[in-house]
Amino acid sequence: MEILKHIPNRETARGVVTYDAQDLPETQFVQSHVNLNKPCLIKGAVKSWRATQLWRDPDYLSGLVDNPEVRVYGHSNYLDWKSMARNEERATFRQALKRIEANEEGIVSIPSIFCVPDSPFYPLRQDIGVFAFLTQKKAPVFYPQRRFFMYSGAGTAWHYHQIDETLMCQIKGSKRVGLLSPDCAGFKQLNDDLMAYKYLDGPGCFASYKDEIQPFEVVVEEGDSLYIPPFWWHGVEPVDKELGITMAECWASPEYKLADFKKPVLKKLWKEAFSDFGIAKLIMRHGLPAIMSRFKNKELVLKMD
Ligand SMILES: [Fe+2]
Repeated sequence: MEILKHIPNRETARGVVTYDAQDLPETQFVQSHVNLNKPCLIKGAVKSWRATQLWRDPDYLSGLVDNPEVRVYGHSNYLDWKSMARNEERATFRQALKRIEANEEGIVSIPSIFCVPDSPFYPLRQDIGVFAFLTQKKAPVFYPQRRFFMYSGAGTAWHYHQIDETLMCQIKGSKRVGLLSPDCAGFKQLNDDLMAYKYLDGPGCFASYKDEIQPFEVVVEEGDSLYIPPFWWHGVEPVDKELGITMAECWASPEYKLADFKKPVLKKLWKEAFSDFGIAKLIMRHGLPAIMSRFKNKELVLKMD
């Protein structure tokens, strides 16, 4: 799946603000990025974790858990279950890791391994460290707190996160990530085209509005974390076909983000509450506090991406 290839204006793609983890105070990360919804790359954020040191050995990794069954796919990660279910197979975790390591098929993927209580993968947390630049965080409201992607050759189709903050952490291997701002013009057409994977068919998909698309692009190397704010489109490709491991760490967004109605994506989200039970629950529980917080933080919301 060529996820980034046909995105217009890649030759002038911007990078994101980059920090060394040891030089990033929490106040700066929170105030300049989380509160303002601006992505950044944090070099070396997970470099010293036991996971980053030890999980390059599949035997060690599979030995941490009781060899549970997993779903294995021979393609990149799609957004819808119908596309995802193609080439779905079951295997034990150990077998699946061996297939990823050998990668005789070109693409092998075990996506979304939840590392939460009651999951057979919860023991993996023993090798996960902390983020020095992020010590204060509340539980996410929509996504699981922590999930892993183990793969060789597999990327992830363009998508955005409904709410919640995310640190995409490269435990092993490197990935190239394209980002598009939620303030990008032509949201509706872009949303329709990206959700229908039209960019896979060639550059023609964006022909009528290509000048409006100004992507960001960043390589997240092993040991780095990319802060991906909610509502930012992102498409992901691995840089090689070796065993790669990504961890997505999520935590709750500042309340006002859910009520930033100047963003078309938020208008769409609130409308979806009428047809999607999961979104309806989210809005019912967090909508009113979000609106109140939005009024309290007017100045901040004006500066948000
Ligand atoms: Fe994502």
